[in-house]
Amino acid sequence: MKNIAVLTSGGDSPGMNAAIRSIVRTVHQSNVKVQGIQYGYKGLIENNFIKLTPSNVGNTIHIGGTLLKSARSKEFYKKEGRKVAYKNLKKNNIDGLIILGGDGSLTGALIFSNEYNFPIIGIPCTIDNDIYGTDHSIGFATARETIVSAVDKIRDTASSHDRIFIVEVMGRNSGNLALEAGISSGSEMILIPEIHLDIDTIINNISKINKKKKSIIIIYAEGCKYGTGYEFANTIENKIKNSSVRFSILGHIQRGGIPVPSDRILGSILGYKAIEILLKGKSKKMIGYKNMDYNIISIEDSISKHKNIDTKLYEIAKIISKQ
Ligand code: F6P
Repeated sequence: MKNIAVLTSGGDSPGMNAAIRSIVRTVHQSNVKVQGIQYGYKGLIENNFIKLTPSNVGNTIHIGGTLLKSARSKEFYKKEGRKVAYKNLKKNNIDGLIILGGDGSLTGALIFSNEYNFPIIGIPCTIDNDIYGTDHSIGFATARETIVSAVDKIRDTASSHDRIFIVEVMGRNSGNLALEAGISSGSEMILIPEIHLDIDTIINNISKINKKKKSIIIIYAEGCKYGTGYEFANTIENKIKNSSVRFSILGHIQRGGIPVPSDRILGSILGYKAIEILLKGKSKKMIGYKNMDYNIISIEDSISKHKNIDTKLYEIAKIISKQ
């Protein structure tokens, strides 16, 4: 292997830059060269290659987003798009690829690697923390921190006005981000897609809490199926006498911001290890981190297995949120 390339794909996540920096500086220790591809698979199809050097990735570890830019490419889902991608890799003499992204990006990586027998290593990056094979994905800890600091602020006003606040958080179909942000912000209720309660049970539970405490924070994972957040807020306001309910969507602020140290460390560790295993000839693997150690699993396993929520945490949250 003489030349490798790295790209970031799908939704960006804080800590991606730490991983890119680590990849570039680890590669520099060998005779292998590294290039960046801008805008993910879209950039690969458009031949958007850039030079990466140990010095031009300097001063990036503390910056959110991705210095390589990202995109969600429809073209790469098509055979013709992947054919052009392969031609561009050959044109640039690339013989190994590192993909930073979530499950959609890893799925694309596996299809491509199977089609062209091309060596690929994946690094799990998403705020959703829904990737099987790693305790945390890069970006999750920062997003959790962002939610908690927002909820701390919302709590002040909720408490001043005795209001019930529904705070919608990201996570796509997964409740992992909502659950950990909910427990660490001391929220009174956490609603996640994995545990669907009927609306009467929810109203009943809120009423019980409301008898003891007038201000309530409900973390509402975006994948929940109780109608839109506004509809849900209206239902609660209509059903709970004298209640004042507000709904707040945190949105994309959860994806940005200064990466917390644990995301910078995770990015640094996984970037380093991705290079090590790629240069040793491994392919179609994802490098995760579990129980304080590397976890190398096939991309196939990672994308086909479901990462469950921590049910212990859910049960604990239910108990300790009661006054
Ligand atoms: O996968 C990361 C994520 O932020 C999800 O939590 C969210 O559902 C989605 O991406 C939003 O995607 P976009 O930025 O393309 O709207």
